[in-house]
Amino acid sequence: MKKIPRRDLPADLRRDTLAVREGLPASQWGENSEALFLTSSFVHPDAATAAARFANEEEAFVYSRFSNPTVMMFERRLAALEGTQACMATASGMGAITMLCLSLLKAGDHVICSQSVFGSTIVLFGREFAKFGVETSFVSQTDVGEWQRAIRPNTKLLFAETPSNPLTEVCDIAALAAIAHAAGALLAVDNCFCTPALQRPAELGADLVIHSGTKYLDGQGRVMAGAICAGAQLIDEKFVPVMRSAGMTLSAFNAWVVLKGLETLSIRMQAQSASALQLAQWLEIEPQVERVFHPGLASHPQHALAMRQQAGCGGAVVSFIVKGQANGGPEAARRNAFHVIDSTRVCSITANLGDTKTTITHPASTSQGRLSEAQRQAAGITQGLVRLAVGLEDLRDLQADLERGLGSVAA
Ligand SMILES: Cc1ncc(COP(=O)(O)O)c(C=O)c1O
Repeated sequence: MKKIPRRDLPADLRRDTLAVREGLPASQWGENSEALFLTSSFVHPDAATAAARFANEEEAFVYSRFSNPTVMMFERRLAALEGTQACMATASGMGAITMLCLSLLKAGDHVICSQSVFGSTIVLFGREFAKFGVETSFVSQTDVGEWQRAIRPNTKLLFAETPSNPLTEVCDIAALAAIAHAAGALLAVDNCFCTPALQRPAELGADLVIHSGTKYLDGQGRVMAGAICAGAQLIDEKFVPVMRSAGMTLSAFNAWVVLKGLETLSIRMQAQSASALQLAQWLEIEPQVERVFHPGLASHPQHALAMRQQAGCGGAVVSFIVKGQANGGPEAARRNAFHVIDSTRVCSITANLGDTKTTITHPASTSQGRLSEAQRQAAGITQGLVRLAVGLEDLRDLQADLERGLGSVAA
């Protein structure tokens, strides 16, 4: 079968080189930067070729709902970085998880999902897919025994996100892969927080790697994007047909932005993670801070696992609990958290993360705001919790920004 050609690159290139070079051959004009193909459809030389392409007898670009050169360049580059055979881009991270469920599950199937995953992921599994007869058991992020005990004969998918948002709890990907495979199920890992620059779940046994490209892959808070990385058979047989019919397509423009973001991913992740660790260490000794969550801290419960699994790096997200007033309860804790957030002048008050601009948020009333109080309690999202996603500003300016509020919280 005639295939879309690959870039002519040596076979043994390293990841940082692939992050800049993997994609498609340049067009006939020889551009150095990747081209942005803003076109809905593609023209065929004759009717017979069109028929062959629609019948999948010849691989070619046909219609941008399911194939576009700029999107394919992003898919090939991300697959190369994750170490998977293939990748399918989607309109957003939630679009990727929706694609995953639509493609792999049917009524009567059972899913096991960490209770600490992103709030919308909990809503998607617990409410939206439950409407179609897919049942989900939510289990501890870190207790491997709970995952094992939740397995049923109809379990088809295990879904984890590590480190988790916002508490940075780390789960053992290799252990979960072993549980999934022994049960004939697949393991999907949301790799949004680490990105392939720090962690490659497929190398640890995960079958599917999920991304919100909106976060570090873009890296500058510009566009929505998502992706699933997996083996070629899963992508071709399960995901491509669903994308063709359901159309949660990544736009070529957004694909181009994220594709170019991948070129600086590794150095951004290293720099932002180093700043996050330094801020976390400083927060740990701040008197108005009750607890700090960052996998790079020796005090983090899964520190050793995180260092093994995440290339010795904690990632760029730090969460911390601001001390509440004595006996003030959750309301006082929330007031103090709001005070710290509102006292910043550099950080952006927004629930997004993965930007070069540091963002600060109150998870209990934003990203996890749609959860019930019981779900929040189970996930450990208290009212005093503040999440920082550290960017590329000078660390001293960030520290001063936080010091302003922490120095004046009601004790
Ligand atoms: C870990 C994680 N996964 C998935 C998503 C969803 O991604 P998107 O906003 O691109 O739909 C988010 C968004 O914040 C996230 O933090």
